[in-house]
Amino acid sequence: MKTSTVAELLSQETTHIDVEVKGWVRTFRANRFIALNDGSTINNIQCVVDFENTDEALLKRISTGAAVHIKGQLEESQGKGQSVEVQVKSIEILGEVDPEEVSKTIMQPKRHTLDKLRAQAHLRTRTNTFSAVMRLRSSLSFAIHDYFNKNGFYYMHTPIITGSDAEGAGEMFRVTTLDPKNPPLTEEGEVDYSQDFFGKETNLTVSGQLEAETYAMSLGKVYTFGPTFRAENSNTSRHLSEFWMIEPEVAFMDLDGNMDLAEDFMKYVLSHVLKHNKEDLTFLEQRLIQEDKSKPQAERNEMTLTEKLHFVIDNNFKRVSYTEAIDILRNSKPNKKKKFKYLINEWGADLQSEHERFLVEKHFKCPVILFDYPANIKAFYMRLNEDEKTVRAMDILFPGIGEIVGGSQREERLDVLKEKMAALGIPEEELWWYLDLRKYGTATHSGFGLGFERLVMFVTGMGNIRDVIPYPRTPQNAEF
Ligand code: 4AD
Ligand code: MG
Repeated sequence: MKTSTVAELLSQETTHIDVEVKGWVRTFRANRFIALNDGSTINNIQCVVDFENTDEALLKRISTGAAVHIKGQLEESQGKGQSVEVQVKSIEILGEVDPEEVSKTIMQPKRHTLDKLRAQAHLRTRTNTFSAVMRLRSSLSFAIHDYFNKNGFYYMHTPIITGSDAEGAGEMFRVTTLDPKNPPLTEEGEVDYSQDFFGKETNLTVSGQLEAETYAMSLGKVYTFGPTFRAENSNTSRHLSEFWMIEPEVAFMDLDGNMDLAEDFMKYVLSHVLKHNKEDLTFLEQRLIQEDKSKPQAERNEMTLTEKLHFVIDNNFKRVSYTEAIDILRNSKPNKKKKFKYLINEWGADLQSEHERFLVEKHFKCPVILFDYPANIKAFYMRLNEDEKTVRAMDILFPGIGEIVGGSQREERLDVLKEKMAALGIPEEELWWYLDLRKYGTATHSGFGLGFERLVMFVTGMGNIRDVIPYPRTPQNAEF
């Protein structure tokens, strides 16, 4: 007989049939009721053991965490909370556990702190919260590929080891096979990378954008979806050292087209999970409602999780220039009352997350697209505006998250780009191939990067980015 998943059994309409199922015991109650889960759904199937006719020794081995193989009959359930259950005919313990040991882990069925769950990240998907988050993460990535596939984009795999700094911010992890104790040196006493594995300095990529641009300039519409690495020492709830980024890049598209694309794309993926992941979303929504109860009124969420998703889907993102945003911030209450940590005094200031969140959560109360930022707070590749002060950049800000997307129209004019690189001390030799694009049939083109984990945070309502990726990498932490 074929083994069924728990999800299949729970959606079965015919009963009185023989079934087989494998999974892990969540709880075993009254020597009779096994709540069994196999990851296929947030719901457990109840398996009822005929304890009077079951060997005592076997009953003892049915405990939380154990992997079991159950054969039995699917029946309508008498109990509340489930429509069907399995009347167990035989049970085989595939992997047993010592109840003493399990009680020390987060499998112990009770409330655990997220910190404790993080310390046992290899077991945390045995919990409802993390299994729901990770199923949503999977569903979101599927929706992302689906969107681009439906819209004529090609999926491009950009290299993870690169010789360039795409963001020009110097936040890179070096890749080397040189002996750290005894590296070869040049005559000047510097490390001689010409003797390194690749014959030059290399690092883990911070973004696939530059390579994606080269493909957009031949395939038209492309996107990347892969891991990116940043050696920035930001120990916040929104930063990871290794995170996944989605980067579409489109030829002949300007910044307005880029904003339209980003908005349409975000709405599509959010609609996808609302349609396909109802049970997990409902669970996480309830979790947040419970969490809110322990918070003061002012800090509670105004909308439930699904209301928030609907709100983003149903409303236009507000498009505001950086200059307008600065005016709003300068005249805002928290600025006047010196409540911001960084006060906004003049045009040109970089926006901190407190400012972004003020604009989104207090002022506009909807997702905001900020555009036309000052050139000197943005990356070298962004297209310079006529005013020669601002660039065609855009950031999308989401409630509770702040910046979720960063993008721009790219500088397609060779002379302007060269001047910019020279001013920032970026050597032309390093990016000769990038400059070539501007020599051979240059054209307007644009793209953006969506931080995947920030999207997962928004969808699941999890407050810390470490809880939406299986094994978070952050400063001082690379366990598992
Ligand atoms: O704004 P960023 O740095 O933009 C780029 O990398 C461009 N090359 C994208 C492009 O135009 N193709 O990063 C894009 C997004 C941010 O908006 C944020 O959501 C996410 O990536 N991000 C991070 N997420 C988690 N941890 C970090 N350390 C992140 N840094 C950026
Ligand atoms: Mg950014």
